[in-house]
Amino acid sequence: MLIFKKVEEIKKYLRPQQQAGKTIGFVPTMGYLHEGHLSLMRKAREECDLVVASIFVNPIQFGPGEDYDRYPRDLERDRKLAEEVGVDVLFVPEKEELYPPDYATYVEVERVSEGMCGASRPGHFRGVATVVTKLFNIVRPDRAYFGQKDAQQAVVIMQMVRDLNMDVEIRVLPVVREADGLAMSSRNVYLKGEERQAALVLYRTLKEAVELVRCGEKDPEKVRQFMADRVAAEPMARLDYAEVRQWPTLAVPTKLEGQILLALAVFIGQTRLIDNMVVEVP
Ligand code: PAJ
Repeated sequence: MLIFKKVEEIKKYLRPQQQAGKTIGFVPTMGYLHEGHLSLMRKAREECDLVVASIFVNPIQFGPGEDYDRYPRDLERDRKLAEEVGVDVLFVPEKEELYPPDYATYVEVERVSEGMCGASRPGHFRGVATVVTKLFNIVRPDRAYFGQKDAQQAVVIMQMVRDLNMDVEIRVLPVVREADGLAMSSRNVYLKGEERQAALVLYRTLKEAVELVRCGEKDPEKVRQFMADRVAAEPMARLDYAEVRQWPTLAVPTKLEGQILLALAVFIGQTRLIDNMVVEVP
């Protein structure tokens, strides 16, 4: 596995490969890799000639007071895991490499980035769309792989790719969970003591809400309120949002029909966790 830290060096390596007709699969990450990330890399390995992954904790997608400084980092471990799943090229730029002091350009995706995480984290999706655009321009992948864990992020990226005519196919893969159902996240390491058990409230609530929908509940507001109440019943949890949306448009439904996204953001102590499920309503 090759590791590049400089934009010019990874471009110089990748362009001849692309000229020679090799397809490139790309997995952007912020590192501290877990099975969720690795599932994306394995799928890229299956589908593409060359697999590129990036590890970059993107400062501009973190708000003031968020966890940029203490976001977990372990490059040595990440390097081994990426190599084991067959990543060919790892891109690990420094902050200054992507954002020199005179940096001035940002990508804004309207509508789908409003509400949900966009409401709780102002500027977050602008930071995500900007860095993903930069990474796509550097790597020029044929396919890029994202997790449904960050459902709204995936929708923002798909909208951006359509709107800006980017030549990349976006693949969205299922949420990978721990054995007890907790969605894998680099941030799970923040959970201390009893918080780890309390964090199961997200998975439990989503499963129960899926059941409620499958049993015929057609009123989105009833389902949303049900989720909020179930989270409120967990003493260690504080609700950030419970949302019921059409998938994958994120439109607010008046009646539950078709593909429905049930999404939660919950604080467990200081740690903000997100999770979601999509349910098909006949
Ligand atoms: P990060 O949180 O490291 O996630 C990288 C990718 O892994 C994202 O597409 C995310 O949805 C996916 N992922 C995370 N946990 C997952 C899980 N449990 N199951 C399946 N996929 C999972 O998302 C980001 O980084 C950043 O915002 C980034 C896109 C890299 C831009 O900075």
